[in-house]
Amino acid sequence: MAPVRLRNVTKKFGQNVVLQDIDLEVNDREFMVLVGPSGCGKSTLLRLIAGLEEVSDGSIYLGDRQINHLPPKVRDIAMVFQSYALYPHMTVYDNIAFGLRRQRSQKLSLFTKLAWFAAANQKRRAEIDSRVQQVAESLQISHLLSRKPKDLSGGQKQRVALGRAIARNPQVFLMDEPLSNLDAQLRSDTRSQIVQLQKRLQVTTIYVTHDQVEAMTMGDRIVVLNKGDIQQVDTPLNIYRKPANQFVAGFMGSPPMNFLPVSIDQDGNLSGEGILKAISLDQISLPKADRDFILGFRPEDLQPSNADYADIEGTVELVEALGSETIVLLKVNNGGNDMEIRARVSADVGLEQHWQIGDRSFWKLDLNKLYAFDASSGKTLHFPYH
Ligand SMILES: Nc1ncnc2c1ncn2[C@@H]1O[C@H](COP(=O)(O)OP(=O)(O)O)[C@@H](O)[C@H]1O
Ligand SMILES: [Mg+2]
Repeated sequence: MAPVRLRNVTKKFGQNVVLQDIDLEVNDREFMVLVGPSGCGKSTLLRLIAGLEEVSDGSIYLGDRQINHLPPKVRDIAMVFQSYALYPHMTVYDNIAFGLRRQRSQKLSLFTKLAWFAAANQKRRAEIDSRVQQVAESLQISHLLSRKPKDLSGGQKQRVALGRAIARNPQVFLMDEPLSNLDAQLRSDTRSQIVQLQKRLQVTTIYVTHDQVEAMTMGDRIVVLNKGDIQQVDTPLNIYRKPANQFVAGFMGSPPMNFLPVSIDQDGNLSGEGILKAISLDQISLPKADRDFILGFRPEDLQPSNADYADIEGTVELVEALGSETIVLLKVNNGGNDMEIRARVSADVGLEQHWQIGDRSFWKLDLNKLYAFDASSGKTLHFPYH
């Protein structure tokens, strides 16, 4: 177990800068989730830590040891891939034992000089066997040990891949979208099992996903990555409530936060023909100057209202009844431009309202939950939490 530190890590493929000056500190025993859209550099970052790619610049530490010049097998790091990467010709038992046997053969060169080689060998074999049995039991795959990967379901393969990583007792686990080949139910079950396993084993873990629900539910902390740049590192709740910028605000949350470009005049009032014209901006602490910014609000902070008290009027474009809640897609007019925003209400409210596509509908916005972002940099200017 050890902390992982990245200092000014840059990775280029030819001229293409995939990761730029990454500084990151993952604490000992922490479950860190790395989340971001496809192609933002998540797998590359893990592969650099594992030693499957070389850094172009910067350094990587495991505890006090700089590891970025070391070959992968001596880094004491285990990686689980989306594709499982099991050896197809080996049984589950041998797949799990594989890494342990490699550890043995490195040590054997010392032992061979000794007369008790045979005894040591036998002892080691018994140790490996007991380790494999123990790991298989903890993942509930003992009954699969003699099967080959082709005779396993996706979920079972995934457990074997985890087992192989755990067996070696590494200082760090790296997991690259390990659940993305599983169906929804299995994914959600396995998600909680991985978290429980990590808490039990207390191994520093970096878990990559493009799925913000996985990130929110699994991580002690989350790193949000976009285009090779770290946007924010924080706890799930802070990432959700206090996003550092518009990218993070829009990426975390489903449906995502609504954004409306607006301008304020010198008196601090909204100018133009925005849908929120009637709103006083006393609630949000913005510099009172002529400027453009982006107003943000989450779908759950809209509630249906009577026309007289409404902050927002829109045309219903789509109603999605999801069982426990209902998502309403609205077309609104913001300063002459048609825009879409989403509202999320409880299923009961959805039923009471029985919206039809094309209906005019009226909404109250929780003005204590407004966000504001700089229109050019995207930086958060205001969030509604202290
Ligand atoms: N071996 C490689 N050679 C060239 N470009 C690569 C290589 N591996 C990844 N890339 C590029 O690096 C970027 C980030 O890829 P990746 O780390 O796989 O993203 P993610 O895992 O977030 O989807 C992509 O633009 C990808 O095309
Ligand atoms: Mg990837």
